[in-house]
Amino acid sequence: MKKILPFHLIIGIVLILVSCQTKKENATRSTTNTNQNIEAKIDSILPRLTLEEKVDLCHAQSKFSTKGVARLGIPEIWMSDGPHGVRAEISWDSWDYAGWTNDSITAFPALTCLAATFNPDLAGDYGFNLGEEARYRKKDVLLGPGVNIYRTPFNGRNFEYLGEDPFLASTLVVPYIKGVQKNGVAACVKHFALNNQEHWRDVVNVEVSDRALHEIYLPAFKAAVQKGNSWAIMGAYNKFRGQYTTHHKLLTNKILKSEWGFDGVVISDWSSTHSTLEAANNGLDIEMGTGTDGLGTTTENHYQHYYLANPFLEKLKSGEISEAVLNDKVRRVLRLRFRTNMKANRPLGSLNTPEHHEVARKVATEGIVLLKNDDNFFPIEDKAGLTIAVIGENATRSMTAGGGSSELKPQFEISPLEGIKARFKNAKVLHTMGYETGVSEYDVVHPPTLNQDSLKTEAIKLAKSADVVLFVGGLNKSHLQDSEGDDRQQYGLPFGQEALINDISNVNENLGFILLTGNAVAMPWLDRVKGLMESWYLGSMAGHAIADVVSGDVNPSGKLPFSFPKALEDNGAHAFGETSYPGVDMTQHYKEDILVGYRWHDTKNIAPLYAFGFGLSYTAFELENIASDKENYTKNAHIKIKCDVSNTGNLAGAEVVQVYVGKKDSKVDRALKELKGFTKVTLDKGEQKSVTIEVPVEALAFYNEEKSDWEIETGDYQIYVGNASNNISETLKITVK
Ligand code: GLC
Repeated sequence: MKKILPFHLIIGIVLILVSCQTKKENATRSTTNTNQNIEAKIDSILPRLTLEEKVDLCHAQSKFSTKGVARLGIPEIWMSDGPHGVRAEISWDSWDYAGWTNDSITAFPALTCLAATFNPDLAGDYGFNLGEEARYRKKDVLLGPGVNIYRTPFNGRNFEYLGEDPFLASTLVVPYIKGVQKNGVAACVKHFALNNQEHWRDVVNVEVSDRALHEIYLPAFKAAVQKGNSWAIMGAYNKFRGQYTTHHKLLTNKILKSEWGFDGVVISDWSSTHSTLEAANNGLDIEMGTGTDGLGTTTENHYQHYYLANPFLEKLKSGEISEAVLNDKVRRVLRLRFRTNMKANRPLGSLNTPEHHEVARKVATEGIVLLKNDDNFFPIEDKAGLTIAVIGENATRSMTAGGGSSELKPQFEISPLEGIKARFKNAKVLHTMGYETGVSEYDVVHPPTLNQDSLKTEAIKLAKSADVVLFVGGLNKSHLQDSEGDDRQQYGLPFGQEALINDISNVNENLGFILLTGNAVAMPWLDRVKGLMESWYLGSMAGHAIADVVSGDVNPSGKLPFSFPKALEDNGAHAFGETSYPGVDMTQHYKEDILVGYRWHDTKNIAPLYAFGFGLSYTAFELENIASDKENYTKNAHIKIKCDVSNTGNLAGAEVVQVYVGKKDSKVDRALKELKGFTKVTLDKGEQKSVTIEVPVEALAFYNEEKSDWEIETGDYQIYVGNASNNISETLKITVK
């Protein structure tokens, strides 16, 4: 007999439902109100501004700020680099640092490390905590994150970005931006678009198909704008199809502002603006860093000579450019202020707090990728009588200094050596540099000063005397390494490290390598080391994070956000000669097209040294009972992939279940498989959990160049489920009707 609820209970439930609905409406209404009354306020301000005042809102007044309108109480906008932390204060009108003593900050790990965590929640914590520091430093715009796709292992700035896969980058960039902007600070996603190398970055013209543009290079920007609601975006230096991307008819006006509905501000890169008419008519809103005397340096009162300054004013007065063009820019820069420094009740931010250090450490330990661990070389037990030799310049070299505009002045930076010494209190920890790189200023590398032979002799002597050797090497933030402004010029490790590793392993085979890089490198020495971890550039807490993993306090769970090709020519961008990289006569053709990274390796059947999505653990996991919820799906459905994950080892740990999708019989060329879903699951030893990963069918669409639109093909698809792009546990078949 059906039980009927007592009358008073029904009333109660109804009242609760009604109140929730009104709360939800109020919430939406209040958000809409905020948006509505922001637009209303902008409408009231616009007619009160003079033409000169409006034009002045659209270009720099100093290296990192733009004018306000003091007469009306409209504040200036202050910007600061960068993606991993708030850069030290720079002088008003030069690139020199201002020498402040209150601008030391928390250096968070480089974004490749964040990408390697495969953890969107952590990306949100990263953005929020970094945003707190930017807010405290009174910055209205944080010039990050960077989401240019990792196309070549030579790109000097790959360490600043989120790897080679557009889905991974899109999934992590959204919570990062939301986190930053919760502080009332605008994120400025960059560099829009196709700035995938540093070599000739300010002139190179990129030629790439519409398909690769939409399927590989734009998705992370689209997610940043449409899902992350980024309030700013930065144009790039390079050209695309012959036009500068900072003021590009197709990219900026059509795709970004019209199709994607971007309502924020387009900010140029520093000195990436090249034309008043294009800047005005192709959607540039704020011009920064232009060198007006042609030499890139500044002259007296040169801000009035900017493309969007006097020349713009003249064309407005002559009627060559309509004031409506100017008013759209002014609306956007005012909207930026109502979202930031003209927003009531903005939080106050905070600096160098224990929470910030904890988040920096957590991203670092979760991002470290264990690549090799023969004979359980790692973790290393801290015990009396054990002598550990730590060899390599990267054990002590600062990795927050250098690298270009993302460089930082941290309040502290725990080096790998300091971290290891702090954690290994019972063992004896010894260090020698082993090799030395030259000091590098922006674009000059000075030769090493110490005698390289004596450094090597010292290293071999120390290695011989130790029980275990930790080699801490890799690249660094010098010019022609992992640094802005130019690219690497060799795929192998520099500074004689390859020979040194061989010499060390000849005297002590109990050798592990802690590799600090932002890029893939050749590993001819791989069989000479027992253990290998990719340890990125980890910021302030680097040494503690490295020691956490080396000691086993933390079980590594990082997965590679980009492939490690065995040889450079195994990489898609380097398989077509100079026309593809770095370009010929300042034009380059992305001939690998959509087959970037693992897409190239899988489809061309070229096994990488280490694959995208790969990373070991100190424990072991099983993926089983993998199934889709249905066989057939309509185009607007969601595919639900279920999988049971068990921790079959004897240590708690985390695994990343990855879902790739392919279509072997497609009417167009496709990569064998593409990442379309993932989830990170933490399991105690012996524990099992069931996870479900949802993939919307529309995510299987390809970009149809004839229609200039996305198209979902009907028919069969392969669903690959595994814990690395080259370690698939099960392949399912589903059909789209
Ligand atoms: C640099 C970089 C950009 C940075 C800007 C300000 O050239 O390309 O990422 O935000 O200029 O330093």
